[in-house]
Amino acid sequence: MDSLPWVEKYRPADLSELASHKDIISTISRFIDENRLPHMLFYGPPGTGKTTTILACAKKIYGPKFKSMILELNASDDRGIDVVRDQIKSFASTKLMFNSSGMKLIVLDEADAMTNAAQAALRRGTTNLLYARNVRFCLICNYASKIIPAIQSRCTKFRFSPLPIDTMTDRLNFIVDQENINITPQGKNALLKLSGGDMRRLVNILQIQATHTAFDVITDDSIYLSTGKPNPSDVEAIIHWLMNDSFKSCYDLAIYNLQKERGLALVDIIHEVAEHLIFLELPSAVRLVLLEKISDVERNLSTGSHEKIQLAAFISSFTISRNLTNTQIN
Ligand SMILES: Nc1ncnc2c1ncn2[C@@H]1O[C@H](COP(=O)(O)OP(=O)(O)OP(=O)(O)O)[C@@H](O)[C@H]1O
Ligand SMILES: [Mg+2]
Repeated sequence: MDSLPWVEKYRPADLSELASHKDIISTISRFIDENRLPHMLFYGPPGTGKTTTILACAKKIYGPKFKSMILELNASDDRGIDVVRDQIKSFASTKLMFNSSGMKLIVLDEADAMTNAAQAALRRGTTNLLYARNVRFCLICNYASKIIPAIQSRCTKFRFSPLPIDTMTDRLNFIVDQENINITPQGKNALLKLSGGDMRRLVNILQIQATHTAFDVITDDSIYLSTGKPNPSDVEAIIHWLMNDSFKSCYDLAIYNLQKERGLALVDIIHEVAEHLIFLELPSAVRLVLLEKISDVERNLSTGSHEKIQLAAFISSFTISRNLTNTQIN
């Protein structure tokens, strides 16, 4: 157990252990108990328990040896039409009776990476009478919109939302106790903020921090430093510079140097600044212009535009709107 990464070590094995999504779990449990499991589509952001839930369901249906009882296809790259046709067909048509109803479970993780042709083949699979009798599909993906409508309408859809902060806090405290970790309350808050409802991210950062010999105590500073994310005081300083300093000093002295020193990505700075802008006291025209310009920079960054040029555009959007309105914030 000790050699396992913590995301596996602390993956809940039972439906009852899953901390969140109680309504989803009780619905699925009822389906299983009544032996009328439908095809299912799980969707939602990463680290919210989709894979964990279906594995726990399989365990409930098939007992501890469930791994050999389900067909799990989860490498997004070998998901061509042939895989869907051949692997699923041979699994579905074997005569093995896994449980009293003989129902078999096929889990297609990262289903949004399937080609449309493969999805079309799957659609024929879900309507095939043989399959209808003894096979249930569970498709898992981040974006339901990438699954063709014909499949969506054949599945019962379950949306996994980001985990609420109290669930994350309970799980964090549990792991901290189990592993005897020394972490400050501010460190916990930083961790909860940075993971944004993604439990995998929280557990991974915690493990990296805990095994990092340089830190005896995990603090918010050590977390921000090692994840390369801007800490709140950096963000405040950046906003102050943006609102008050000249373009040149903002660029050279401030943001560029801070970015280099802390290893911060511009896109992370932009996300934080945009979040703060919503709460800053600004004339609404300025706020709207700024948010629009910032979103342009963010989009440009995501399409691979040069970071230095985008940094200049980001700073100049503040300089321009300040010149327009003479706004200064202290
Ligand atoms: N509800 C939960 N309660 C406790 N731990 C959880 C919960 N959800 C997720 N986790 C933890 O987060 C890890 C990742 O969860 P999981 O693999 O189920 O995410 P996922 O939703 O399938 O994400 P992805 O879309 O990236 O595949 C698990 O190993 C587990 O440690
Ligand atoms: Mg998953």
